[in-house]
Amino acid sequence: MRTTDLIERKRNGEELPAEELAEFVLAFARDEVPDYQMAAFCMAVYFRGMTPAETFALTEAMIASGETLHVGSALGRKVVDKHSTGGVGDKTSIAVGPIVAACGVPMGKMSGRGLGHTGGTLDKLEAIPGFRVELTTEEMIAQLRDVGVAIVGQSASLVPADKKLYALRDVTATVDIVPLIASSIMSKKLAGSADAIVLDVKVGDGAFMKTLEEARVLAQEMLELGRRAGREVTCLLTDMDQPLGRAVGNALEIREAIDTVRGEGPDDFTELVLDASARLLAYSDLGIGHGEGRRRAEAAVADGSAFTTYERWIRAQGGDPDPRALPEAPVQLAVQAPRDGYVSRLGALAVGNAALDLGAGRRTKADAVDPAVGVLCFAKRGDAVLEGDDLAEVHAGDDASARAAGGAVLAAYTLADEAPPVVPIVLEVIS
Ligand code: URA
Repeated sequence: MRTTDLIERKRNGEELPAEELAEFVLAFARDEVPDYQMAAFCMAVYFRGMTPAETFALTEAMIASGETLHVGSALGRKVVDKHSTGGVGDKTSIAVGPIVAACGVPMGKMSGRGLGHTGGTLDKLEAIPGFRVELTTEEMIAQLRDVGVAIVGQSASLVPADKKLYALRDVTATVDIVPLIASSIMSKKLAGSADAIVLDVKVGDGAFMKTLEEARVLAQEMLELGRRAGREVTCLLTDMDQPLGRAVGNALEIREAIDTVRGEGPDDFTELVLDASARLLAYSDLGIGHGEGRRRAEAAVADGSAFTTYERWIRAQGGDPDPRALPEAPVQLAVQAPRDGYVSRLGALAVGNAALDLGAGRRTKADAVDPAVGVLCFAKRGDAVLEGDDLAEVHAGDDASARAAGGAVLAAYTLADEAPPVVPIVLEVIS
């Protein structure tokens, strides 16, 4: 294989044979294809796209770059899994895991780090002092047996090609590309041996898919990859025009996930968490439908078993589950409403970028993440505010970055005289 030739053919819009794609991806995983060639290839895919056969071949090659987990056979259970395409303030898995586990369904999940302006579940979990994201397969399976929930990083042995590619795409403007997102997500889900998968496809300003039409295309690609691999898949298309919940930033989001597991979370986030939990329970081997799944998920929150499971899970992975142990930023700055009105818009991308600039995410592969910084958006779309009310609060490492983020967050708000139409968090369900 001549790599430049392969890149050129993709750049010229040719369909590449499965064997050549596999050879290329496997060579990249073995460090035999340099980052700059893979980045050029991804950019060619941005402009030329991939056929369904190419996307499937890419997904299979990524899976073949490492080992596959056999959690289901080890546990003797049907394995359910969820994944999000990435958004701002998206800590859904951290609340869903303990709720589903408290209902008797194990959820073992491989998660990723922040990508672009979106946060990553692993970065959020690492805000918890002592939390270990690197578990061996044996540790993960033992924890699933004991506690019912484990969220881990991609170990070096699982889908290593995606791990490398994900980090490279993050810093080469090649994230928002349907076949690359679809193959990245589905390779992890399939290698993790999930039998049934709930995919949260984010739509809007803060998502990689800006419109419902684009999100439907991504959902269909992932459904098709699942179908080819013989798995059950449901896609929830969910609103990402504004941040999910109030908290954006790693430790802040962990606090909000804890509140939600205790039944004290913000409405939009709580609704998404309960809906996703209900669908996972309905897919599980409990033999129940969505309505009963919802009832059980709500009961696990109300009776405290979801929170107890959260505490056991965090301890099992070496972390301190007490929210008071989470790091706090030294500077907190209120962002105030300049006039009376209704919040008609709160741009998720602008808030995500403000959090990124504060240090909640990475601009380059080598950047360190500050777990304490971020933004709390107290006022969300549709809320009535009075001049001087706190719209948001910036949590920063120093005064200068707090002021800069404060300006950016204020600019993310639009206040109007009329309340905007209500937008549900779950916009559409496709399966
Ligand atoms: N999540 C992933 O796992 N991969 C992507 O490419 C985007 C979101």
